[in-house]
Amino acid sequence: MTDVPVKLRPEILAQRAYTQGKPAPANSFKLSSNEVHFEPLESVQKAVTESVITNRYPDASAKVVREALAEHYGLAVDNVIVGAGSVSLLYQAVQAAASVGDEVLYPWRSFEAYPGMVTLAGATSVTVPLRKDGTTNLEAMLDAITERTRLVIVCTPNNPTGPAVGQREFEQFMEKVPSDLLVIADEAYIEFVTDPSALNATRILADHPNLVIARTFSKAYGLAGMRVGYMLGHPEIMRAFNTTAIPFLISGQAQAAALAVMGEPEAIRQRVNEITARRDEVRRALLDQGWPVPETQANFVWLPCGEQTEAVAEILREGGIIARAFPGDGIRISIAEEEAVTPLLAACWRAIERYPYLRAEEQNAG
Ligand SMILES: Cc1ncc(COP(=O)(O)O)c(C=O)c1O
Repeated sequence: MTDVPVKLRPEILAQRAYTQGKPAPANSFKLSSNEVHFEPLESVQKAVTESVITNRYPDASAKVVREALAEHYGLAVDNVIVGAGSVSLLYQAVQAAASVGDEVLYPWRSFEAYPGMVTLAGATSVTVPLRKDGTTNLEAMLDAITERTRLVIVCTPNNPTGPAVGQREFEQFMEKVPSDLLVIADEAYIEFVTDPSALNATRILADHPNLVIARTFSKAYGLAGMRVGYMLGHPEIMRAFNTTAIPFLISGQAQAAALAVMGEPEAIRQRVNEITARRDEVRRALLDQGWPVPETQANFVWLPCGEQTEAVAEILREGGIIARAFPGDGIRISIAEEEAVTPLLAACWRAIERYPYLRAEEQNAG
């Protein structure tokens, strides 16, 4: 910190920049960023190529995408905002809701971008630990609400552990949350949910004007490189979030890509089905090896590794698997191409043989 040549905010200097999943060396599988591995759909590729305009600003309100989303969800256009990925909308939301002295409440461990966006706003993060099985503890979150809480974020399915919050459980939570407290359901992985009892917050959006839903085209829709996400909610909240946006962030190509991919529901469904089937197989195999992998409704699995996290990540790396390690805690592994499954399971087996106390029964006993 001492070699920064100018005076900058100490809380920003103290924070680490968002760390991206490492690039995969040759002959490795990059399973570190929850991307889908499929090639872009032809229609999407074509739409992007045909929409290249370099000398004009794009439509700042992403109107065509908002209109298409509004139609898809049976909402008015004013209920929808579009951002450069849902992460940019989450930043906008925090800026709009919280400032110095205010609290933003979210579970932890969860999406690693949350702490940074709260710090940037000058607000204070209040975190509620996940349960031992990687699930979000909504009751404890209710207890953590104070008069300073301005925003509650519920990440479901939770990144990086995988479990989704239940529909009934969330409905009960919303009934108890003060009606003027903003709640964001971050549903970045909703398309991978196969459990019918899991939350789909759109079912209750109309009942709760304080509820906002964040979703993205980056994951199931395969547009991580185009940066398009969206929020659904009350028109006045959407308007407020728009005022904190950096203008023109969503390029014309990104808007064209989002529109094109919305026209391919069947292709997307097939791809999602392939991933969720593989996810369930991988989890079952890991459970058989003894790994205490939480139930997952997303396109990734979580290996709780505690102090051995970096050592296990190294074993995976040597086995050609680039995963996301959270030192001291665990490793998140994205589910992608079929060819990655055998080397992944082989590396996980070597790791659990090397550190047998990571097995479920040993952890439970401990
Ligand atoms: C829980 C969660 N929310 C939001 C995002 C943001 O995704 P994007 O900005 O690509 O839409 C991610 C990405 O990893 C995520 O895991």
